[in-house]
Amino acid sequence: MRAYDIIKHKRDGKALAPESIRAFLNGYLAGEVPDYQMAALLMAVFFRGLTPDELNAWTDCMLRSGTVLDLSDIPGAKIDKHSTGGVGDKISLPLAALVASCGVKVPMISGRGLGHTGGTLDKLESIPGFETDLSIDRFRKQLADIGVSMIGQTSSLAPLDRRLYALRDVIAAVESLPLIASSIMSKKLAAGIDGLVLDVKVGSGAFMKNVDEARALAETMVAIGARMNKRVVAVLTDMNQPLGRAVGNSLEVEESLAVLNGEGPDDVVELTMVLGAQMLVLGGIAASTAEARPLLREAIERGRACATFETMVLAQGGDPAVVRDPRRLPRAAQRDEITAARAGYLQSIDTEQVGIAAMQLGAGRTRVDSPIDPAVGLTVQARLGEQIEKGQTLVVMHSNPGSNKDKARALLQDAFRVGPEPPPPAPLILEVVAPQGARE
Ligand code: URA
Repeated sequence: MRAYDIIKHKRDGKALAPESIRAFLNGYLAGEVPDYQMAALLMAVFFRGLTPDELNAWTDCMLRSGTVLDLSDIPGAKIDKHSTGGVGDKISLPLAALVASCGVKVPMISGRGLGHTGGTLDKLESIPGFETDLSIDRFRKQLADIGVSMIGQTSSLAPLDRRLYALRDVIAAVESLPLIASSIMSKKLAAGIDGLVLDVKVGSGAFMKNVDEARALAETMVAIGARMNKRVVAVLTDMNQPLGRAVGNSLEVEESLAVLNGEGPDDVVELTMVLGAQMLVLGGIAASTAEARPLLREAIERGRACATFETMVLAQGGDPAVVRDPRRLPRAAQRDEITAARAGYLQSIDTEQVGIAAMQLGAGRTRVDSPIDPAVGLTVQARLGEQIEKGQTLVVMHSNPGSNKDKARALLQDAFRVGPEPPPPAPLILEVVAPQGARE
């Protein structure tokens, strides 16, 4: 089939044969199919979707578009975690070290923040000296020696995803379930993992604003994993308020260190435990999440989780003293409070706006290449449903001279809604999607 015929076939709602998908995508990678034809096919997929067989062939092609790491010579199960992105989502930091300290290998390949969501690499790099662009050899050695390594996406892993994502971004084809699922799964599976826990965020600060969309994405990704013989579980979690109190890079590292020291906000601790328990089960360390939780608690209480994080920081060139003394992290020069204009209950938080406010202060990026300030951000002082007094502090802005404080203040004043009635209680953990529940 010619590229034209493949586009027409999909445009007309007909399923493509795996070999047609392979020919088109490999042709694009080789420069034989131009951007305009690739863009047309992406838009046809956006409107028509992909059948499970098409999705499998599409993901497989993306995954094999570059190096596929083979970590099988490193003993132990290799299990990663991926979050679809939220505000204040620093879970990867305490989680990776905690799970590694319990005997699962965690080869974590993470991204940078873009728009209202933060990125694990930016958070880690707020630790002075911390390097995230390790060579694959160093990554492998560290994984074998310490059990955890956290690095950035290398150009050799799933390069087709990077090209397709850039194209989707400029043709308004990002919000497509099969394209999101294949993008996430191809990069993760190219890293040579045995299993993956997906944290699919739902709510005002997430990509997926409602549970049905999030469940469909989770089921699709779990099904891709099952078809590729990988152990994949998804947890749908609430993102109608920032996770924890800290939003912004060094502030989030400090909060993560608190969790590793047995402290930290309840929601950050609980989500770390929930995802960690799933990782221990996938890694074969525990038979059930109930059996896994005491193992995780013990690793924190005995200081093993914190020690593993410290060893990782040292191995990746960072200042390990930060772990015992977070005051060594970059600090913003100014603090300003946003207070409640009326008394009542905190009814809703436009969490995406909170993320954008943090970005305006300099904690995140408007474009992939914009610089960030590791010190700035927000500390959120109120939780949904909390009774609020007039004049009570809702959020503190941590800023530096380059921060756009006026814009951030306006966004925050608008984002917190205080009203006469408390909102219905919102559970943090909404659902777990395991392989047997996956849609075929
Ligand atoms: N995150 C990804 O990695 N890919 C997408 O397509 C969307 C979000």
